[in-house]
Amino acid sequence: MTKRFFTLTVLLVVPLLFQSCTKLNKDLPTPVSSETKIHEKGWIDTASTKFHGKYLLINNLNSASCKQCHSSGFTGGTSNVSCFTCHNSFPHPAEWDSTFTGFRTDIKFHGTFLRMNNWQFDSCKTCHGTSFAGGNRVEVSCMSSGCHQDDMGMQKPPTACNTCHGNFRGMENDTFSWAPPRTILGDTSGTTIGVGAHQPHLTFGTFSNKIPCATCHNVPAIYSDAGHLGSDNRAEITFVDSLAFIVTNESTTTDYDNSLSLFSPLPVYNNLTSSCSSTYCHGNFKNGNPAFAPVWNDTTGAQTVCGTCHGDTTRSTLADRALPKGTSQGGTHPSANSCFACHGEVVDANLNFVNKTKHINGKLNVFNQERDF
Ligand code: HEC
Ligand code: HEC
Ligand code: HEC
Ligand code: HEC
Ligand code: HEC
Ligand code: HEC
Ligand code: HEC
Repeated sequence: MTKRFFTLTVLLVVPLLFQSCTKLNKDLPTPVSSETKIHEKGWIDTASTKFHGKYLLINNLNSASCKQCHSSGFTGGTSNVSCFTCHNSFPHPAEWDSTFTGFRTDIKFHGTFLRMNNWQFDSCKTCHGTSFAGGNRVEVSCMSSGCHQDDMGMQKPPTACNTCHGNFRGMENDTFSWAPPRTILGDTSGTTIGVGAHQPHLTFGTFSNKIPCATCHNVPAIYSDAGHLGSDNRAEITFVDSLAFIVTNESTTTDYDNSLSLFSPLPVYNNLTSSCSSTYCHGNFKNGNPAFAPVWNDTTGAQTVCGTCHGDTTRSTLADRALPKGTSQGGTHPSANSCFACHGEVVDANLNFVNKTKHINGKLNVFNQERDF
């Protein structure tokens, strides 16, 4: 974005804030006396060139000088005249910082306003300061009074990675708190696409180690990075340098078998069906189930039962379900189903994981060794 365009948008957005936001009470009080007014004649005459509204608009709405007598909250101060006598709210609409009820219903909430205006934080900085801690024009800091703070009371700017999505009260540098639940539109249910299976992937203990954001997304360094704030509120799935690409049955590996071809995943995410296909993680590996395409927002558990990524979900025992393809199915895995005897670093005799960091880690853990396969 060029500097020129920037200045232009700021100029456009600031008046917009006011036109759409300030509401006036219907019945204006009649001036009590016509003498000894501190302000110039015409100060409350909308037709006059001296009208206070025009004065402030010409001065970029810099109301700092008014505060001296009308108080910093514009409620009266030494002047005894509150701006709210005539203005229902100033300068923002009354619902601007209301208890948030959701982005779809709460259209006057300041976050919704920002979302609907392409996240133009610069328009806010003109009054609230470049670091949002209050500026020359307005002392109101975004971080004070418990707003824009984490659970520990540490302040964080409204541009923090967990403001617009993720856990709003999470610590600014807690990467995992940046992800949904709580999408851009405020959804929190796993059946909605923006939430989907984030938590099962990010919570240590489901099937493997935590899966970092970069496995599936391009992660911006700051919110304003190119490609981050799209206009469709749908995230991009990129799989850059990801576990999803791991190639198996390479000729250099110990377990190489020339009766099988090379397994070379080409991960894709289909945002019409919200499913991933051809990923190493979900089955595109030697003796696995390469055609399996898990659905992101299916919360029934069906996408992760034993046998989905490797084995056969229709078999009756857990071990048989998990057992990768052996010779009878065109594979090469030994047809022995006491898994722990050979994969004891990963599972126990009851097929409970003993070390999840070694499952779906891109390596074969067998006979107490860790190797490519
Ligand atoms: C006596 C009633 C009255 C009081 C008190 C008053 N205003 Fe106004 N103000 C008005 C009217 C009427 C308008 C014109 C609104 C319009 O044209 O739609 C206005 C317009 C404005 C505007 C121009 C932006 C806009 O919405 O059109 C600003 C800014 C403004 N007032 C700020 C203030 C501030 C700050 C105070 C307190 C220090 C204050 N006003 C007190 C009546 C008042
Ligand atoms: C030096 C103190 C002082 C400053 C600074 C000041 N005001 Fe006032 N203002 C007053 C007082 C006192 C009144 C009460 C009426 C009077 O005595 O003129 C008043 C009244 C008003 C009224 C109502 C006028 C009426 O006739 O009903 C408006 C509107 C207003 N001020 C707007 C502003 C705005 C906007 C600013 C900043 C640009 C501002 N004032 C700065 C002292 C001040
Ligand atoms: C022209 C100056 C100005 C601009 C631009 C501005 N604000 Fe404000 N803001 C104020 C003032 C003045 C107050 C204090 C109002 C009060 O005390 O009631 C305030 C208060 C707030 C509050 C506290 C709630 C309230 O109404 O008191 C929030 C939240 C807020 N602003 C958010 C924003 C956001 C978000 C933007 C950008 C989209 C923004 N502001 C742009 C002047 C501005
Ligand atoms: C296993 C892959 C995967 C991982 C890991 C992952 N995401 Fe996502 N993410 C997705 C999918 C799939 C979507 C939904 C895309 C769509 O709209 O179809 C999504 C959507 C999102 C959205 C948009 C939510 C909305 O409002 O719709 C955000 C924000 C997001 N992810 C952030 C993160 C962050 C931050 C992390 C790391 C803490 C992360 N994701 C980890 C796959 C992943
Ligand atoms: C101002 C609001 C806002 C802030 C602050 C923000 N995000 Fe986002 N984020 C979004 C929106 C909106 C999307 C969905 C974009 C789309 O429509 O493609 C998104 C999507 C994402 C995604 C999914 C991939 C993508 O780009 O679509 C990731 C990952 C992400 N954000 C990480 C971050 C990180 C890391 C930070 C802090 C550096 C951050 N976000 C700060 C609004 C925000
Ligand atoms: C007799 C030892 C042995 C037993 C028992 C065993 N495995 Fe394996 N496992 C291996 C060997 C050897 C490989 C490497 C095979 C290859 O790549 O051809 C392997 C590889 C795998 C792989 C990676 C895919 C592959 O075939 O290369 C998975 C997944 C796996 N085993 C799961 C299981 C599960 C689940 C069980 C129990 C139901 C099990 N294994 C029982 C020895 C065993
Ligand atoms: C989300 C897909 C997925 C599911 C579901 C899954 N696995 Fe695996 N599993 C893999 C992948 C990928 C490997 C290949 C080796 C690796 O990366 O750890 C593997 C390998 C294994 C191995 C071989 C040891 C090793 O190297 O990790 C065992 C044993 C195993 N899985 C047991 C199970 C059992 C038991 C279940 C059901 C409770 C299960 N797996 C469910 C993806 C999955």
